[in-house]
Amino acid sequence: MNEADSEKMAGILCAAGYRLSGSPEEADVILINTCSIRDKAEQKAFSLAGRFAQLKRRRPGTLLVLTGCVAQKLGAGVLERAPAIDAVVGTGRMAELPELLERVRASGRPEVDTGEAASEEHPAAPVRSSRIKAWTNVMFGCDNHCAYCVVPSVRGRERSRKPVEVLAEVTALGRAGFREVTLLGQNVNSYGRGLVPAADFAGLLRAIDAASGVPRVRFTTSHPKDFSTGLMRAVRDLPSVCEAVHLPLQAGADAVLERMNRGYTLERYRRIIGELRETVPGVAVTTDIIVGFPGERTADFDDTLQALAEFRFDAIFSFRFSPREGTPACTMSGAVPEEESARRLIVLQALQREITEAGNAALIGREVEVLVEGPSRRDPGAWKGRTRTNRIVNFPAGDRPIVAGDFVNVRITGAGFLSLEGRVAAGDLVAARCG
Ligand code: 5AD
Ligand code: SF4
Repeated sequence: MNEADSEKMAGILCAAGYRLSGSPEEADVILINTCSIRDKAEQKAFSLAGRFAQLKRRRPGTLLVLTGCVAQKLGAGVLERAPAIDAVVGTGRMAELPELLERVRASGRPEVDTGEAASEEHPAAPVRSSRIKAWTNVMFGCDNHCAYCVVPSVRGRERSRKPVEVLAEVTALGRAGFREVTLLGQNVNSYGRGLVPAADFAGLLRAIDAASGVPRVRFTTSHPKDFSTGLMRAVRDLPSVCEAVHLPLQAGADAVLERMNRGYTLERYRRIIGELRETVPGVAVTTDIIVGFPGERTADFDDTLQALAEFRFDAIFSFRFSPREGTPACTMSGAVPEEESARRLIVLQALQREITEAGNAALIGREVEVLVEGPSRRDPGAWKGRTRTNRIVNFPAGDRPIVAGDFVNVRITGAGFLSLEGRVAAGDLVAARCG
């Protein structure tokens, strides 16, 4: 979400006459786009602000801007912690950036703008970092009340973009030759709620599949409590929609899920993942897990381990609980000591590592469709790409006429934790070259 916002802000500034600079050292405006989901992300933002403050001393006139969720959450409080900041711009005020910068230049005083968004439709096209993959928001905000989460208070109420607007943007991306678009929302499954005329996410996917010309479509994030059979069928039936679903579980014990206010039990999650896997053969399922949520007993954590062993996710993102001011969990009793949540995280990640490695190893010998993203970072003589299930595959370039953006059939020859190795499948060099 933040990366998509950064690209939007770059687009807004470029439309106002700015250009991207090669490095912070030569920039007239430095923008720090921040995340406040966990304390660590917030700390990182402030330490970056400190680093750029030194740079500003060497180059007076450089404007330092803090945007994103930390800006939205702390407002003028940012200036107390980081006095070198010239402008604090909330998540709904990106369109106002050029004007705000002008005001700062004119007055020499910092500006803080964390007001409501007038509209989230920016006429300026984002400056996209890739020519192959793009993001687009289908909705903003979140109406859920997960007890640990700061998102609803900083990103506001859930609002969906109109299907015509999303479709127009994705179709433009298809025409521009993009091979993959990821549709973004905090809870894409509730897409369309409140729209007139009514719309739903499966319908949006159908429209995009039929008309956009984008060969691969992904979406994130799904909330288990809203995952419909219709959406599972859309993933199964629509050729462009990749068989990869991110379905955050968060915890394996019902008592913890309840205190988190997630709105489902482990049994309900089990039924959903079961139906998903039955409906969409070969679907990759990834998840998010929080360890050390207040009141999480050792037995509850064991339930989470048990759940990982049962569901065998393709990959997980796992975090230690981070108390966020203003959220219900922040004042809950039963804090888990830091060393204990750190220990739990290590145990959890070790178990998942085995599961992911075993899942990857099971692909050896199989042929998969890879979208080539560019040269492999580890080996410049090789290509790197991703399967439809979002696994990274490295394969030797050889003398094949391959370019980034190609679809190549690759036979998997080796597997590690984070990536797979392969060779272009014999007799089928380039499966499809689109556009
Ligand atoms: N502490 C730790 N992890 C959190 N997440 C959200 N809020 C917190 C928090 N306060 C995690 C959840 C969510 C992911 C994006 O970040 O697992 O799914
Ligand atoms: Fe946060 Fe829950 Fe909304 Fe996700 S669904 S953004 S975890 S409140």
